[in-house]
Amino acid sequence: MVTGAASGIGYAIAERLIAAGGSVVAFDLDSRGLDTAAERFGDAFIPHHGSVTDTRDVQAAVTLAESAMGGVDGLFNVAGGLRPAPVTDLTEDDWDFTIDLVLRSVYLCTKYVAQSMIRAGSGGAIVNVASVNAHLPLFGGSAYAAGKSGADMFGKNAALELARHGIRVNTVLPGLVETPMAGFILENEGIMNEFYANAVLKRPAQPDELAAPAVFLASSDASYITGSSLVVDGGYEIGSYPDLSKHL
Ligand SMILES: NC(=O)c1ccc[n+]([C@@H]2O[C@H](COP(=O)([O-])OP(=O)(O)OC[C@H]3O[C@@H](n4cnc5c(N)ncnc54)[C@H](O)[C@@H]3O)[C@@H](O)[C@H]2O)c1
Repeated sequence: MVTGAASGIGYAIAERLIAAGGSVVAFDLDSRGLDTAAERFGDAFIPHHGSVTDTRDVQAAVTLAESAMGGVDGLFNVAGGLRPAPVTDLTEDDWDFTIDLVLRSVYLCTKYVAQSMIRAGSGGAIVNVASVNAHLPLFGGSAYAAGKSGADMFGKNAALELARHGIRVNTVLPGLVETPMAGFILENEGIMNEFYANAVLKRPAQPDELAAPAVFLASSDASYITGSSLVVDGGYEIGSYPDLSKHL
């Protein structure tokens, strides 16, 4: 099951899983995006229109996966977004919207998918897509950064509790990725100049550069990895310290 599969990183994960012979329940709010992807991918892409913040929609996605595919062996918690504002202007509705979308959704999908995996008795893997903002604050992004940090720690806690059922849980922390969600950053020259000053690989990622490590973490090649957080940011985090080579 891939949440947020109609666009960006979730779409790229679905594409990789289907290319490897898998079937995907693609869970997204964007029904048009789901229809377009379903046309491209065919029967292996099973659309589920709903919100990852809604318990009934999450339960329905699990029921669909059980009836259409015989169960779920991997969950990718990818759907996300934010309503940014500085903390003094951030409304309680906008705080709840962002926290529900980036944190509650990870709890809900993990809870109901893990219950299904435990019933099936054959283990599984869960991969969360958080953000480098789990480590680095973002102006106007207090709810987003707090929620992503929470999702990262939630993954470690779930890994601890689910190991006895053969379920591994890991988290990927992307830096800047070329997707519609990051459009407001990618289109802003001033922000991008600051980005290039710190990003040691000097470019944003393509969605598939996040899909590859996410799919790896769900695969048997990662059989000994659980409770880990993998920063996939092109070296952004390590680039923020002054470049001593320019001054010494
Ligand atoms: N793009 C970046 O630079 C970047 C950086 C760090 C982290 N991320 C994270 O990566 C994840 C994927 O984002 P993306 O960049 O691919 O963005 P995107 O906008 O391309 O895709 C996000 C998808 O989530 C779906 N979605 C939004 N709310 C939903 C809901 N309530 N229920 C179901 N689906 C919902 C959207 O319809 C969309 O298809 C997000 O969690 C985002 O926070 C992105």
